[in-house]
Amino acid sequence: MTKQVKHLSLFATFLLVSLLVLLPFCNAKPSPNSQAEALLKWKQSIANQSILTSWAIKTNLSISSHCKWLGIACNNAGDVIGLNLAYTGLKGTLKCLDFSSFPQLLRLDLKVNQLTGTIPITIGLLTNLQFLDLSTNAFTGIFPLSVANLSMVVELDVSRNMISGELDSGLFPNGTEGAKTGLFSLQRLLIQDTNMSGYIPLELGNCKNLTLIALDGSHFFGTIPSSLGNLSELTVLRMAENQLSGEIPWNIVAARELLEHSTTGVTGKMDREFKQTNNADNPWGHGYIHN
Ligand SMILES: *[C@@H]1O[C@H](CO)[C@@H](O)[C@H](O)[C@H]1NC(C)=O
Ligand SMILES: *[C@@H]1O[C@H](CO)[C@@H](O)[C@H](O)[C@H]1NC(C)=O
Ligand SMILES: *[C@@H]1O[C@H](CO)[C@@H](O)[C@H](O)[C@H]1NC(C)=O
Ligand SMILES: *[C@@H]1O[C@H](CO)[C@@H](O)[C@H](O)[C@H]1NC(C)=O
Ligand SMILES: *[C@@H]1O[C@H](CO)[C@@H](O)[C@H](O)[C@H]1NC(C)=O
Ligand SMILES: *[C@@H]1O[C@H](CO)[C@@H](O)[C@H](O)[C@H]1NC(C)=O
Ligand SMILES: *[C@@H]1O[C@H](CO)[C@@H](O)[C@H](O)[C@H]1NC(C)=O
Repeated sequence: MTKQVKHLSLFATFLLVSLLVLLPFCNAKPSPNSQAEALLKWKQSIANQSILTSWAIKTNLSISSHCKWLGIACNNAGDVIGLNLAYTGLKGTLKCLDFSSFPQLLRLDLKVNQLTGTIPITIGLLTNLQFLDLSTNAFTGIFPLSVANLSMVVELDVSRNMISGELDSGLFPNGTEGAKTGLFSLQRLLIQDTNMSGYIPLELGNCKNLTLIALDGSHFFGTIPSSLGNLSELTVLRMAENQLSGEIPWNIVAARELLEHSTTGVTGKMDREFKQTNNADNPWGHGYIHN
């Protein structure tokens, strides 16, 4: 091989490698901020697109044609307010979904698919979101703190994923009147069967409207914070199959009659005491699930 040929082949290899490295990234060229284009860009990154055949620009272009695409709901102005693709066999990542294009989004339902990769930090841009369900997928990586931005979210379900990291206290309102971030509106929080760990932050007790907390089957440890006793609407508390220890805070059960609670791993005298009182005072009787 001559020197020149050697250089050429080196250059070719370099080109090939750069291409391979660049390919997985989204088409970076700036495009009009159209929501339809943002959806199509994401579609192109999805392995099995057959489910999204309706996602195509028709020659007869009307401003809100994307509103008729499968899983898309729009408001009267043609803004996407719902992305509902649960149970559709989606394979791929959310990396190429440009969340900044959907400031009006109220509902993001992608449960029971085969989505991989991380939950993008940019999910924090969906500041009007009310419903977020990413459960039963194969997401990995850290549960992003940017979710603290989703102050309108009523239901948050990331169960049955391989996500890890901790339930950062910053996700929840800090208890001060003027606090701007945190999941203020949360009513149902489900993080079942994940790889998430760490302490359950006492700030969770500042989400006053919580009715359901299901953290069972993850790797949380420490004690159940007594601040949860302040949640007057709470009816379901599922904490089983974690590495929790200590006692069930008395005020959680004393404050109301939980319809359902499961607390395997929580030990101590209070456990039994609670059970007795529960039998005596709880009209549901069976409320204590011991497994
Ligand atoms: C385009 O759409 C408009 C309204 O949706 C309809 O009236 C018109 O006939 C369509 N044109 C063609 C060429 O399909
Ligand atoms: C694509 O998705 C459809 C609908 O869920 C499914 O029936 C099909 O098996 C999938 N194909 C591949 C190659 O994953
Ligand atoms: C939180 O939302 C604001 C807009 O209300 C946005 O400017 C900011 O980038 C968001 N932060 C994150 C971490 O997503
Ligand atoms: C809570 O956050 C607000 C700003 O969002 C801040 O002004 C306040 O000091 C914080 N309070 C506590 C107790 O950290
Ligand atoms: C909590 O619920 C009450 C009653 O439904 C409602 O008026 C209030 O706006 C809710 N608070 C938040 C922060 O969503
Ligand atoms: C689960 O978390 C542990 C540490 O908490 C880590 O060692 C392990 O790799 C994680 N597994 C997955 C699948 O993320
Ligand atoms: C419960 O709420 C009261 C008043 O809002 C507060 O003073 C107290 O610290 C809270 N308890 C816990 C355990 O967070």
